[in-house]
Amino acid sequence: MKNVLMKCLMALWVAAGLVSCASGAKEDATEKKIDDLLRQMTLEEKIGQMNQLQGVGYNEDMVSQIREGGVGSILNDLNPDTINMLQRVAVEETRLGIPLVFARDVIHGFKTIFPIPLGQAAGWNVDLVEQGARIAAYEATSVGIRWTFAPMIDVSRDPRWGRIAESCGEDTYLNAVMGAAMIRGFQGESLSDPRSMAACAKHFAAYGASESGKDYNTTNIPERLLRDVYLPPFKAAVDAGAATFMCSFNDIDGVPSSGNKWLNIDVLRQEWGYDGMLVSDWGSIEQMIPHHFCSDLKDAAHKAAIAGVDMDMMGFAYITHLKSLVEEGVVKESVIDEAVRNILRLKFRLGLFDNPYVAVVDTLPFYQPASLEVAQRVAAESAILLKNNNVLPLKSFNRVAVVGPLADAPKDQVGTWCFDAEPEHCVTPMQAIKERYGNKVVAVPGLTYSRDTNKQGIAQAVAAARSADVVLFFAGEESLLTGEAHCRADLTLPGAQTEMLKALKATGKPVVMIVMTGRPMVITEEVELADAVIYSFHAGTMAGPGLADVIFGDVVPSGKLPATLPLMTGQVPVYYAHKNTGRPAADMILIDDIPVGAAQSSLGFTSFHLDAGDSPLFPFGYGLSYTTFDYSPVTLSAAEMTVDGTIEATCTITNTGKYDADEVIQFYIGDKVASVARPVKELKGFKKLHIESGESVTVAFDITAEQLAFTRLDMTRGTEPGEFDVWIASDSRGGEPVTFVLK
Ligand code: GLC
Repeated sequence: MKNVLMKCLMALWVAAGLVSCASGAKEDATEKKIDDLLRQMTLEEKIGQMNQLQGVGYNEDMVSQIREGGVGSILNDLNPDTINMLQRVAVEETRLGIPLVFARDVIHGFKTIFPIPLGQAAGWNVDLVEQGARIAAYEATSVGIRWTFAPMIDVSRDPRWGRIAESCGEDTYLNAVMGAAMIRGFQGESLSDPRSMAACAKHFAAYGASESGKDYNTTNIPERLLRDVYLPPFKAAVDAGAATFMCSFNDIDGVPSSGNKWLNIDVLRQEWGYDGMLVSDWGSIEQMIPHHFCSDLKDAAHKAAIAGVDMDMMGFAYITHLKSLVEEGVVKESVIDEAVRNILRLKFRLGLFDNPYVAVVDTLPFYQPASLEVAQRVAAESAILLKNNNVLPLKSFNRVAVVGPLADAPKDQVGTWCFDAEPEHCVTPMQAIKERYGNKVVAVPGLTYSRDTNKQGIAQAVAAARSADVVLFFAGEESLLTGEAHCRADLTLPGAQTEMLKALKATGKPVVMIVMTGRPMVITEEVELADAVIYSFHAGTMAGPGLADVIFGDVVPSGKLPATLPLMTGQVPVYYAHKNTGRPAADMILIDDIPVGAAQSSLGFTSFHLDAGDSPLFPFGYGLSYTTFDYSPVTLSAAEMTVDGTIEATCTITNTGKYDADEVIQFYIGDKVASVARPVKELKGFKKLHIESGESVTVAFDITAEQLAFTRLDMTRGTEPGEFDVWIASDSRGGEPVTFVLK
């Protein structure tokens, strides 16, 4: 028996070796092809590959630029015939026939739109996120898109920033895990599969730290924070095989990412061994001039080239100035060669040299039933139940009022960054509920859009509420208030929505508020007023059926907040993985409780806001269910571990309610003492499990040295001996820690 086992193991080992040899041989063959091609290319042809242009259809100007070898990639052309015609010019009418790569922002779906990435993160379902990305790739590649500018994995701790919508929230680990899932989905088993498209890890790096949550703003983050919080999702993207990266618009401590050699070469290439392609963001090379980092476009081209930016998206810096920079000896041609090597490698990996054209089919695979089913499931699983005074799930009623500006707003429910969405294919909450309950539904928006301050319609909504047994109030933000360049300094509900809620509440009918939005908002007052609250980050084409599944109990809510909900805007930034400070909040006396004339020293001296205290409205990882879960105390397989050992942390979770349900079991570790102050805790793992009513499951998480490593005082990455706390809980505030020692 042992011999058989050994033979099997040997066979597996040899097979694995053969596979890795085969892929290694394939890579070697590609490198040889690149070398051969590079040797033949003129300087102009090389620079042409580094130029990415916005698609403008098939016009003479574009055709002649391609024919002269002046274009390497085109973004935003979406017609397969146009794409093939332009590709034919590149392949058949240029000297070397190097194919173009066509790109598009397929961020959370192409035609079948999934919840915005922040919503997908709220579902904590890694497999489903990967499935969604695969469907997006399937739809987008069918028109000829082979490169998407996603996933966006900028850790975002400031909900004033409109682009938090595109991220996977405030946590490093969650962004890393979700980003890797999207990369797997977009790129599939093989990048050369015509149904696969190159992913793009963006925006490199730390764009989410834009000061004051204002887009494109400066970031001032020390290298340690960069390395421990903002870079790990990008390292995970490298490990997941991301074919491309994109620069961020922001500067880090005064250095714009498009000119940051340390970031793009020292870290990305040398430390991480990345061999993919790095594209600028739209005009981000040229924008180093207004950054006051470059004097003119030639200076920008120079600084971006030597900082390792391979391709210039719509900046016209490279195509205009690189030739003269090389001829003047300012930029070595070897720098150009390296960039072109990365670009050609992407095109070879995509299989474009062998298969440059998109198959034109009669019926494009959009909105397939199976795709819509996945989209509905993601929408349902992304819904977060924040409050429920035994109102939900709605089971028995004669009449339900469906009101609010987001109840029937297809363009808004799809969220930001989905230029190819078709609202007519969306199913809104109102449509889904009418489809279920027909004449038991009375629908009156009350407000026509989220910023609407015209209160005349509210009376009709109130009348509808009076005629019903229960009110479903769909509130939130238009999608236009979120996304790139759409930042808000006030996170409360816009327009007259709060007044509308008050009027609905005054009817005495139970009111369920469903918030459909692109960011964590301040809904403190509204949560107080509503009898139940569901939070939904713009949930896509099937937002309506997905939310209806949750509201009426076909799906038990399992969503958990991927970002903290502040109590007040002034708390921002407020996030769970904060430092403890030297005076953590204690004995807080809040502003309304301060006696008039109280002594200066009577309010204590600890870290909190007099008018907010020290807690958010709801913490990261929070979300209720229709059932309840009991968590046993955490047990550890040992009280001590060495750096090459592991400890197993286990916990038994019991479904103590009457509904079978999914639960996101979260695993946090806190370093109690270190050479630098560490966050009070950090998410290091999670499991989303289905637990039937009355069932108990025991989960185990392994603790390894890698999870305890950080950037130490001397800036090296590694562990330090000492005590660590471990939580296994239902959110970032729950559970009692147990402690172990790293020897
Ligand atoms: C935008 C965005 C980037 C996007 C690119 C192409 O400005 O910053 O995320 O991929 O341009 O549309």
